[in-house]
Amino acid sequence: MSELSNALQTRYRSDVCGSLRASDAGRVVRLAGWIHRRRDHGSLVFIDLRDRYGIVQVVVDAAVAPEAHAALTDARIEWVISVEGGVALRRAGTENEKLPTGAVEVAGTKVEVLSRAKTPPFYINEPDAPIDESVRLKHRYLDLRREPLRDRLLLRSQMVQAIREVHHAHGFVEVETPILIKSTPEGARDFIVPSRLQPGSVYALPQSPQQMKQLLMVAGFDRYFQIARCFRDEDLRGDRQPEFTQLDLEMSFVDEGGVRSFVEQMVINVTKRTRPDRPIQQLPFPVFTYDEALERYGSDKPDLRYGLELIDLGAALPATTGFKVFDAPRASGGRVRAIRVPGLGGIARSQIDDLTERAKRYGADGIVWISLQEDGEVRSPIAKFLSAEATTALWSATGGTTVAAGGDLLLIVAGERVRSAEVLGRLRVEVAGEIGLADPDILAFCWVHRFPMYQWESESGRWDATHNPFSAPVPEHRDLLTTSSGDLARRSAGDPAGGALAQQYDVVLNGWELGGGSIRIHDRELLERSFALMGHSLDDARAKFGALLDAFEYGAPPHGGIAIGVERWAALLAGQTNIREVMAFPKTQSGSDLMLEAPSEPDPSQWSDLGLSVRRPTGGVTGAKKDA
Ligand code: AMO
Repeated sequence: MSELSNALQTRYRSDVCGSLRASDAGRVVRLAGWIHRRRDHGSLVFIDLRDRYGIVQVVVDAAVAPEAHAALTDARIEWVISVEGGVALRRAGTENEKLPTGAVEVAGTKVEVLSRAKTPPFYINEPDAPIDESVRLKHRYLDLRREPLRDRLLLRSQMVQAIREVHHAHGFVEVETPILIKSTPEGARDFIVPSRLQPGSVYALPQSPQQMKQLLMVAGFDRYFQIARCFRDEDLRGDRQPEFTQLDLEMSFVDEGGVRSFVEQMVINVTKRTRPDRPIQQLPFPVFTYDEALERYGSDKPDLRYGLELIDLGAALPATTGFKVFDAPRASGGRVRAIRVPGLGGIARSQIDDLTERAKRYGADGIVWISLQEDGEVRSPIAKFLSAEATTALWSATGGTTVAAGGDLLLIVAGERVRSAEVLGRLRVEVAGEIGLADPDILAFCWVHRFPMYQWESESGRWDATHNPFSAPVPEHRDLLTTSSGDLARRSAGDPAGGALAQQYDVVLNGWELGGGSIRIHDRELLERSFALMGHSLDDARAKFGALLDAFEYGAPPHGGIAIGVERWAALLAGQTNIREVMAFPKTQSGSDLMLEAPSEPDPSQWSDLGLSVRRPTGGVTGAKKDA
């Protein structure tokens, strides 16, 4: 009975289309599925019959099975039929090596039409055909029939199954936390749901189960995980959807090393089971502090599949160069940094202009470039400002004067420490993408940790959590929180708490933040202190996080955890650059579901049941985005 479990055997089928092999020859089978292709050769009709498991060729001969042949006379692609017939080896030379079932065909003797189909708006049987994304989204159930999307959803399902197995094997308890909750601030806007029973009150949909999972630790569950739906009303990008799924987990009586070690083994295990064919670049995962990642890659989510590391040119340059673009930022503590791109020495002026434009958009004043040709010739608009020695010093600081075919290009950004690194970090990723430096097969994981606890928000004039407001400081910086004035009026960018580092860690894959977590503060007083530093009054903190603060007074174990984006992980394993490609029913950039036509106007009675009426915004919606 090949791979088909008994539960799949019904009156419609004895086998599934994708399961038949040469060893089935001679059996009489019944199959059900969609007509993938149809070729009419007069008295012979050939059908490629498709189901989730694959495709098999069915041939119906009018001379042998006239009724079955007649039933197929006006059959069209995507009709649903059931076919009975004998499995036969295909004639020598007519086997189809591209199909796992290609050694056999089914000689149909009975055909039952189960459902007719209109002509679909795009070809289901051409996996590479370009199709407008909005048409795919509008008819997602048809898009899901196509092999690429079907395979990605199967991969995601396999991945989630592996996640569950690993967690259960390691003593984790799967708990579902509620969807209608009170706001958990994670940096985005909440989606809110008005309450009918308590007019004027709202629930918030969870941005993550953060507080709930911490409460489960207080409850003593020790190890929790969940495949959790999360909702964030924020601007969408390729790696963001308003509704998404996290692998969320939390552990008690652990330190950072304990969480990272479990998570790393789990991630390796799940990845290897889902994509055994894709090499993991480095094991154990390399670990960077936030500062190191910024200095070396200009990013807290470095793509390690290629080098192109940022080089600080400070030591190679004389104290003053006479070139204001370099000298001015250095005089005020800024940096002059470069990346050296092999093979790009012959870059066209228009490409440089384009890079300069981008650098400006990302916050730099501009970029400086110097190219070194294979014959030793140096080209640069700033050649006249730098002495020959200074130029040679730059080349030696960046790897010497041996250049790749086509020459090498130095892209230099001068400016404030963090900004100059971040601008160059973005150019690094873009240039690497444009010249194809990243091996698309390799999976390069790493950890980034020791993030600053707080960042100074100059606009609002207050500290905010860099990541998660519940994160604990590294043990040696605990005192920085308690010695901070904590006094709203006196707090400033110079406050000692500003230097505190958090026990916060991100797991990164191929330049994407895959997940983030931390060891939490489990002490009420310290958590209240931390909230106060972020500008929450005690009343405000108690109103927002009262349950957690109260729970901490009843015996809270030290705990920590992480959440990993399931779509991001699946998309990267499936080689996709947009998480929509691993979601069954994703939303567009403006948050619409084109198939269900959501969001939609409710029935007027729904407003009145909720005691609400609508005042339409006149000047557009805050932060609204049009679909691309
Ligand atoms: P964080 O906000 O970093 O942490 O989210 C964890 C991971 O969730 C994924 N993610 C998203 N995926 C798709 N669309 C989105 N809009 C989106 N937003 C986030 C990312 C991200 O790394 N409660 C903490 C976790 C913890 O501390 O345990 C949290 O949610 O892959």
